[in-house]
This record gives sequence, C-alpha cells and structure tokens, in this order.
Amino acid sequence: MAGQPAGKVLRIVQITDTHLYGKPDARLLELNTRESLDRVLDLVSEREATFELVLATGDIAQDASEEAYHHFADAIQRFGRPFYWIPGNHDRASVMRRLERHSAALEKRIRLGNWQILMLDSSVPGEVHGRLKSSELEWLEQMLVEADADETVQHSLVCLHHNPHPGTADWMQGIGLHEAERLLEVLDRHTSVRAVLYGHIHQELDFEHNGIRYLCSPSTCIQFKPGVTDFTLDDRAPAYRWLELGADGTIESAVERVPDYDLEVDFNSEGY
Ligand SMILES: [Fe+2]
Repeated sequence: MAGQPAGKVLRIVQITDTHLYGKPDARLLELNTRESLDRVLDLVSEREATFELVLATGDIAQDASEEAYHHFADAIQRFGRPFYWIPGNHDRASVMRRLERHSAALEKRIRLGNWQILMLDSSVPGEVHGRLKSSELEWLEQMLVEADADETVQHSLVCLHHNPHPGTADWMQGIGLHEAERLLEVLDRHTSVRAVLYGHIHQELDFEHNGIRYLCSPSTCIQFKPGVTDFTLDDRAPAYRWLELGADGTIESAVERVPDYDLEVDFNSEGY
C-alpha cells in the first residue's frame, strides 16, 4: 500500500495565515507576525515528536514579498520535513511560483500511505474572496476519479485557503469561497474525500457536511471573533493544527494554542 505499513497513522501539521512581512520588525495590527510564528513553531517542536510534513494553507505573506516567503521556509526548516503551500488572498501566486528554491512546496498532489492530499489554489488576484478556476476544479475531479480507480489511494484530504462554507460573522459573508457549490458538488460525488482543510477566517471550526469533515484552523497571528457583526479580533492565542490520518480513513485532529501568550494587538481595528 504505497510504501506505508497497513495501520500506520500519518501525523501532519497545518500552519496557516502566518501573514509574514519582508521586514523583520513589521507588525499586523500591532502584532509582530514573525514573533508569533516563532512561538507557534516552538510549540510544534515541543509537542510533535514526529510528523510527516507541514501544510501551509495560505496567507503565508501579508505583503507578498519574496523575503516573507523565504522567511517562512527558513523558519520551518528546523523540522527537516517537507512543506507544501498554497496561496491565500494576501499572497501573490506569481511570486510563489518564481521562487525556485521552494518549487517543491508547490506540489499539488501529495501521496502519503493510502491517502492523497490535494492542494487547491482558491486565490483571486486583487480580491479578498476566493474562487476556484474551472481548470482547478477539473484537476480536482480528475484526481478524485483516478483515486476511485486506484486501490492504493483510498482516502483524500482536500486543502484550500478560503472557507467553502459561510463564515461565522456577518462581516465575513462576502469574503469566503465564491461559487462554493461547484466545489461541494465535486467533493460529494467521490467516495474517497474524508476532509477539507482551510484557513482564511482565523478561527477553529470542526464540523461535518454530507459525510465530509470540514476543518478550519486559527492563524499563527491574529484571530477573528466568531458570531459578531463587524470586524472584531478575538483574544485567543496563535495556534497550529495537527492531524492524524488513519489507514482506515479516520482523522484525529486538534488545535494547539501557544500557552500564556501575551497578546499585543490593536483590538480597536476595523479591518486588516
Ligand atoms: Fe489570513
């Protein structure tokens, strides 16, 4: 079964919405995003004895600078594990594509045991909301059709930046994945899809829809408060998510937050 012993659990780490800047001292709503990422990575070092890889689900950079992407890669190099990234609304896919040093991180399909991890680009240049191009949806369909016919691929984890279900606050309603029903139709047609993993709305969510698990994860920097009308920051600490993919298709997962974090952030801000 694709090189993994049957029954082996595959542990992976998701890091999302790091919002890094090229300049080391730059701050997002008064928070230094390099520092908060370092705190999260320290926690990963402490809690994760072994894991296979890192999935970075977008908004890697706040300023789309090459330096910010290099910084991310340098910072997680300490784990000696491969990482894979997809662009968010603050990223620039064209910049990510020209970084030859990190070309392996752009891999869209990752095979792991009897799982495949599919990385979708939902970014729309110049827009906060997301949308999947037809070519992206066709590729997803093709990967899922191939999995249906390939007995070594039994489970699929689909990753994108934008939330495919409406956000949990009024102000978020327009900024999620537009035409999300086109994605859900594809996912619902194939039996190997176990979960969809994303970021973008900077909070922890874990729910099921049509038998598929949807996991949204907090940012490594600022958090957005759920259930409010206008843009409001949450006072919760930076975090990462771990997932354990079972050979039987089960997923164990939890969010780990930096303990005793002294959050220095502008709670009066009206946007980011
Ligand atoms: Fe973000």
